[in-house]
Amino acid sequence: MKKIKLEIDIESCKYAELQQDDKKLVDEACEATKNSYAPYSKFSVGAAALLKNGIIIKGNNQENAAYPSGICAERTTIFYANAQYPEQPVVTLAIAARNEDGFLDSPIPPCGACRQVLLETEKRFGKAMRVILYSNDDIYIVKSVKDLLPLSFDESFLK
Ligand code: THU
Repeated sequence: MKKIKLEIDIESCKYAELQQDDKKLVDEACEATKNSYAPYSKFSVGAAALLKNGIIIKGNNQENAAYPSGICAERTTIFYANAQYPEQPVVTLAIAARNEDGFLDSPIPPCGACRQVLLETEKRFGKAMRVILYSNDDIYIVKSVKDLLPLSFDESFLK
């Protein structure tokens, strides 16, 4: 039996160490949690996408009494960005989450469905999307969605 190891690259830093542009995007993601509709989980997620043209699109999770009908912050944000600006690659996506006690102490990794959608957006534009995962203590940065979903399914398998 052969073992295959997949490695991913993650940078970790503190908020104070972020570049100004990244700080702003993280601030926008935190701000976006305020408009989350999460009466069931009480878990508010916000995302902010910086597009190539400099525009920042914000979104958050939107829940529903029929639970699976709700949608995560990342997909709300990415689909809205792609719907409004179909020619604009997403350069960086920042994600933040808080529960009833406040922002989380460790970075929130996007769910599997969101990673799949982020990957498609990255591939669609042929440009790496940086992803910043905010938390009170550490911030994780990946240079490409490929690092969030290393063994991934994409359109190449359909051919
Ligand atoms: N949620 C997100 O918005 N993004 C994620 O990456 C993980 C989970 C939302 C979905 C649901 O509204 C709540 O958080 C609890 O799962």
